[in-house]
Amino acid sequence: MTRKNILLKPEEMPRQWYNILADIKLNPPLGADGKPISPESLAPVFPMNLIEQEMSTQRWIDIPQEVLEILSIWRPAPLIRAGAFEKALRTPARIYVKYEGGSPPGSHKPNTAVPQVYYNKVFGIKRLTTETGAGQWGSALAFACAQFGLECKVYMVRISFDQKPYRKAMMQTWGGNCLASPSTETAAGRAALAADPDTPGSLGIAISEAVEAAVADKSGQTRYSLGSVLNHVMLHQTIIGLEAKKQLALVGDEPDVIIGCAGGGSNFAGISFPFVLDKMNGREISILPVEPKACPSLTRGPFGYDYGDTSRYTPLLAMYSLGHTFIPPAIHAGGLRYHGMAPTVSQLAHEGLIEPKSVSQLDAYRAGVLWARTEGHIPAPETCNALAQVVSEAEKAREEGKEKVILACFSGHGLLDLAAYDRYFSGQLTDADLDEREIDRAREMLGKHPLPENLRSR
Ligand SMILES: Cc1ncc(COP(=O)(O)O)c(C=O)c1O
Repeated sequence: MTRKNILLKPEEMPRQWYNILADIKLNPPLGADGKPISPESLAPVFPMNLIEQEMSTQRWIDIPQEVLEILSIWRPAPLIRAGAFEKALRTPARIYVKYEGGSPPGSHKPNTAVPQVYYNKVFGIKRLTTETGAGQWGSALAFACAQFGLECKVYMVRISFDQKPYRKAMMQTWGGNCLASPSTETAAGRAALAADPDTPGSLGIAISEAVEAAVADKSGQTRYSLGSVLNHVMLHQTIIGLEAKKQLALVGDEPDVIIGCAGGGSNFAGISFPFVLDKMNGREISILPVEPKACPSLTRGPFGYDYGDTSRYTPLLAMYSLGHTFIPPAIHAGGLRYHGMAPTVSQLAHEGLIEPKSVSQLDAYRAGVLWARTEGHIPAPETCNALAQVVSEAEKAREEGKEKVILACFSGHGLLDLAAYDRYFSGQLTDADLDEREIDRAREMLGKHPLPENLRSR
């Protein structure tokens, strides 16, 4: 019998995260004046211990014991050998999927929520604010805050707030306070509502609201927490790939193809960064971040400096972006509707170390349904995007007659996304390619803060 779940023992859980900043160089974040920002300028937004981690170039960073204890609720996470999925696809490829849906909120997001809350608590912070797209990140932060006794306030993108009412109840269960964004509570929210009272919202607007709310608390006891994009978030997620590497070694395999869906880039970074070094050292691996065709920052956006939020409260980050005012079409993969991409992931794409792909919404659901019918777990809509690429790669392996090893990240379960599946089955979901005019607009916006000559956007 082929082993279905490849498991690690609790004591085999990684004790250190891998920091890719030891191996790649990023363009520094800039202030509005175009000059690199100082760590102190971020102090009203993040605690200094996390700012230091954000800027660290140390290759291996110890995971604190208190964090390991909470992660051990669901980690080490299983690696699934997807034999039934392989059979349905009639592929010679061996497909391994790292299952991140077993955490209490149901995704990879608490891998970083737990350490972020821990470092805030150590720094003396009592309250955190954040945004959430699909609701997975907001639930993860509410869960982590409950573990460490911090208060949590979540601005949830309006379209997801309406589509997924039970995410709010989940956050409430963990003591979190969740409201729809744009809200009337912040200047950023009021401006967005004035521009369009019926706006579906965006992660860019929700980030502005959460940053504004954190900075507005003059007690100094509130900070903001981000669920993706930043270097320290990518760092915390590397536990996914580090575990997967040990699990593949147990069955004597090494990946030829690595796949993760990419919204802000964190689960993709988590599964792939520990293998990027192997690629830099000469191993042939195709590393594929996958995004929806409706929000194609990596595959069609320009590379340049852009803000992380709509109201331009964040520093300028060097990344692929559709522009900080971009409002994505109302697709159901809420976590993949971010306008930009993590600077680390963007830099790897720019250097050609990873090869971005995009898939259509309907192909994503088709792959997700095939997975559920063969392997069982119902994937989150974001995860379906990764699975659609797995299907393409498996079909390619069949056509080429090659026994490839494919490793993919199953970033979350879809048990609170069944309304989206319902719409898929009743034929109400459509495919939306982004109009070229949106890309022109993004080019113009990013052109205002040019990169150094050798790193010009394409
Ligand atoms: C299940 C799931 N997968 C993927 C993502 C995309 O985020 P990231 O690219 O940071 O992994 C999200 C974001 O909310 C998510 O909830």
